[in-house]
Amino acid sequence: MDRILSGIKPTGQLTLGNYLGALKHFKDFQDQSEVFIFIADLHALTLPIDPEVLRNNSIDIASFYLASGLDPKKCTIFLQSSVSAHAELNAIMQNYLFMGELKRMTQFKDKCSKMNDSQIGLGIFAYPVLMASDIILYDANIVPVGEDQIQHVEITRDLVHRFNTKYGDILIMPKAQIRKVGARIMSLSDPTKKMSKSDPKGDIFLKDDMKTIRKKIMSAVTDSGTEVKYDPENKPGISNLLTIYASCKDISIEEAEKTFNGFRYGDFKKAVADAVEEELTPFKQRYEEIIASKAYVKVLKEGAEKASKVASKTLKRVQKAVGLLTID
Ligand code: TYM
Repeated sequence: MDRILSGIKPTGQLTLGNYLGALKHFKDFQDQSEVFIFIADLHALTLPIDPEVLRNNSIDIASFYLASGLDPKKCTIFLQSSVSAHAELNAIMQNYLFMGELKRMTQFKDKCSKMNDSQIGLGIFAYPVLMASDIILYDANIVPVGEDQIQHVEITRDLVHRFNTKYGDILIMPKAQIRKVGARIMSLSDPTKKMSKSDPKGDIFLKDDMKTIRKKIMSAVTDSGTEVKYDPENKPGISNLLTIYASCKDISIEEAEKTFNGFRYGDFKKAVADAVEEELTPFKQRYEEIIASKAYVKVLKEGAEKASKVASKTLKRVQKAVGLLTID
């Protein structure tokens, strides 16, 4: 049976990119696979964050997970910091990834290019080690993520290969699973840039009200042409909106393109706004109910217990392999 693991980092407001590229699809695995979905709160500490903001973001993500249709009876939902094995495995695995590899990570370069060494914490540099530990702990073979996380899964694969070559077949080889449509949702104000939690202008936040969301879509940057056509290089804005539409409707880009043959940009944008509204309205309602009932508390408590059992077994296996005395 496949083992699935994925997580979201509670650093900011979740975006439509997080939703369409990852969150929306986690539930699709829970009927036929063993699914572990977590809140990557230790990762959120790698750049400065206010404690209250971190707490609230973590509650939001837990609630969004439940609102997306993840069923705690069918999968395990937990906080990374509740399972101490993540930090313990990290302490071992940091010896198997090297400075040169970590320095080449795109996300590290993007996030730290404007900082000097006295501002860059060890945690942000070693981020991929902790992420690899997250994946390895659950023997996950499938890691559903958006396109920006592929490199982190690839370095996890390098680590697994290196470790297994040295110690035998101890770790499971994971693979990133990327959506055909929606793996990289772009900013609405600059469609050559990824939509990200730290770009309030071009982002659709899941907590924005519907009126704001519609307004953002209607004023999305397009181009001077008139044709609704998928052409990311020459028509990045229109292509991004087509992707958002197709992803909301669960159809291919080709089908979306056919739907809008002969449409004017204004009417096309309205249809995209309708599709997003149709997709997000029930999701947002469920989120509000979950926040009000605090349903996430029990889920996270039980999830931590279930996750800890699985994670501590892998940790023991690794400890034994590297020669740490494990006294049961
Ligand atoms: P994070 O919190 O940045 O993003 C969560 C998920 O959303 C995807 N995503 C997008 N997909 C499409 N278009 C976008 N514009 C977009 N922006 C974000 C991300 O690819 C991701 O799947 N390092 C991870 C968290 C993490 C993790 C893990 C994930 C920690 N350990 C182990 C998987 C397995 C992160 O910061 O994701």
